[in-house]
Amino acid sequence: METTVGRHRRVIMFPLPYQGHVNPMFQLANLLYSKGFSITIFHTNFNKPKTSNYPHFTFRFILDNDPHDERYANLPLQGMGAFSRIFLFNKCGADQLRHQLELELSAKDEPPVSCLITDASWHFTQSVADSLNLPRLVLRTSSLFCFLIYASIPLLDDLGYFNLSDNTATPLLDGLGYNNVPDDERLEEQVAEFPVLKVKDVIKIGFKKDNDGMGDIISNMVKQTKASSGIIWNSFKELEQLQLETIRRDIPAPCFLIPFARHFTTASSSLLDHDRSFFPWLDQQPRNSVVYISFGSVAQVEEKHFMEMVHGLVDSKQSFLWVVRPGFVSGSTWLEPLPDGFPGEGGRIVEWAPQQEVLGHEAIGAFWTHSGWNSTVESVCEGVPMICSPFWGDQPLDARYVSDAWKVGVYLENGWKREEITNAIRRVMVDEEMRERSRVLKRKLDASLIEGGSSYESVESLVDYISSF
Ligand code: UDX
Repeated sequence: METTVGRHRRVIMFPLPYQGHVNPMFQLANLLYSKGFSITIFHTNFNKPKTSNYPHFTFRFILDNDPHDERYANLPLQGMGAFSRIFLFNKCGADQLRHQLELELSAKDEPPVSCLITDASWHFTQSVADSLNLPRLVLRTSSLFCFLIYASIPLLDDLGYFNLSDNTATPLLDGLGYNNVPDDERLEEQVAEFPVLKVKDVIKIGFKKDNDGMGDIISNMVKQTKASSGIIWNSFKELEQLQLETIRRDIPAPCFLIPFARHFTTASSSLLDHDRSFFPWLDQQPRNSVVYISFGSVAQVEEKHFMEMVHGLVDSKQSFLWVVRPGFVSGSTWLEPLPDGFPGEGGRIVEWAPQQEVLGHEAIGAFWTHSGWNSTVESVCEGVPMICSPFWGDQPLDARYVSDAWKVGVYLENGWKREEITNAIRRVMVDEEMRERSRVLKRKLDASLIEGGSSYESVESLVDYISSF
C-alpha cells in the first residue's frame, strides 16, 4: 500500500486510550501513512500501544508520564473506573498538550505538521489547537446517528425522558437498565425526532444528570466537534445517508465517511494478544454454521446472566466461538462459573480473537454482539447478521438501527433470558431474508469502495483536504 509520494507532510494523531477508540485511530493512521503522510502518535502510557508493530510511526507519550503525579497515580486500570481518565485529562491536559505540540511544530528534522487529528472525546484539544493556529480534525468512533442523538440530549431532557430513569439504579457494567427500567408505557413510544428509536433506547444510553460528568463530556464533545476543521467517521454514506445530510446541513466542518475495517485490520492495534488456536476447528465447520460471540473490550456481566447466556446457547444447539475476556464475568477471573463439560465439542471459548478475520470466515453464520460501533461496522463489512445485546452508551442505539432500520439483526431487548436467547440465535441462523439483507448491505459497502464510490471519494477528499493545510 506504500505510495511513491514523499513524506513531506506530517499528521499528529491522538487517540482516546481505549480499545474501541484506539482501533479506528490506528486504522486511520495506517490509511494516511499509505497515502504518503508521516505519522506522529500522541498517547498516554495507560493502555500503551505496541509500538514495535509500528516502526514507521513516531510515538510521543503524554499526560501521564509522571508516576508521582497524584492526580493520575492511582486511577483504576480496569472496568468503568478506567474511564475517569477522560474527565481528568480533558480537565488538566491542555498545558502538556500545548507544550508537546509546540515542540512538534518547531521541530527542524521532521516534516511540517499539517493538522492534528484527535478522538472526538478529547474535547480539550480544540482550544489548544486554536491557540496554535493548527487545524484540528476529529475522529468520531461512533455512528452519525449516535452523534445526532447525543447532540439532542438537551432536547430529549426537556421532553422528560431522562426523568423516567431517575429512580433506576442502572448498573452501567451489566446490561444497562434491562431489569431496572420502570414499567411505564412511555418507554415503548417512538422518539418524535428519531422515529427509529423508542424512548427506552434513549434511556439506555445511561445519561444521568449531574451524576458522573458524562453529560459534560458529551456536550463538550458535541460542541468541539462542531468547532473542528473536519469530522472523520467510521461509517459509509449508504448506511447513514439521511444522518449525513442532517449533519452537513447543521455543521460547517466537512465530513469524511470511511469504513475502516475494509482498509486495515485491527491486528496490530489490539491491546490483548489474539488467540488463533481455534482456526483449525473453525476451518472444519460447515458454511454459516457457527455463532461468533463477543461483547467488546469493556462490558461485564453478572454471573447469573452469564449462566443464562450459557443455557440459551446450549439450548440453541448451534456451534459457537465465544470470546470471554478475563474479567467479563463480575467476581470471576475467567471461566470459573462454567459447568463441567462446557463448551464440549460444539464450541470454543477464547480470551480474545482476531475479530475481523473471524467475521470474514465462511463458517460464521451470526454475530452475537454488544453492538459496539466497531463490532457493528465490522459485521456489516462481512455481511454477517447480528444478535444484539447492548449495554450502554451508543450500543442500545446501534442495536435499534441494526434490528429496526437496516433489519440485519435481532435485538434481545429484554436482557438475559435463556428462552429468548435460544429463539434469537435460532432465528438469525435460519432467516435467509435477513442473511440476504446483510449481503445486500455488504454489496453496497463494496460498491462504495471502488473508484467513484462514496467511500473511495471520501478517502481521496480527506487526503486532498489535509494536503491543503
Ligand atoms: C466502545 C464502544 O462500545 C463503542 O460503541 C464505541 O464506539 C467505542 O468504544 P468496545 O465496547 O470495546 O468499544 O466495542 P467495539 O466498538 O465493538 O470495539 C471492540 C474492538 O475490539 C473491535 O474493533 C473488535 O474487532 C476488537 N476485538 C473484539 C478484537 O480484536 N478481539 C475480540 O476478541 C473482541
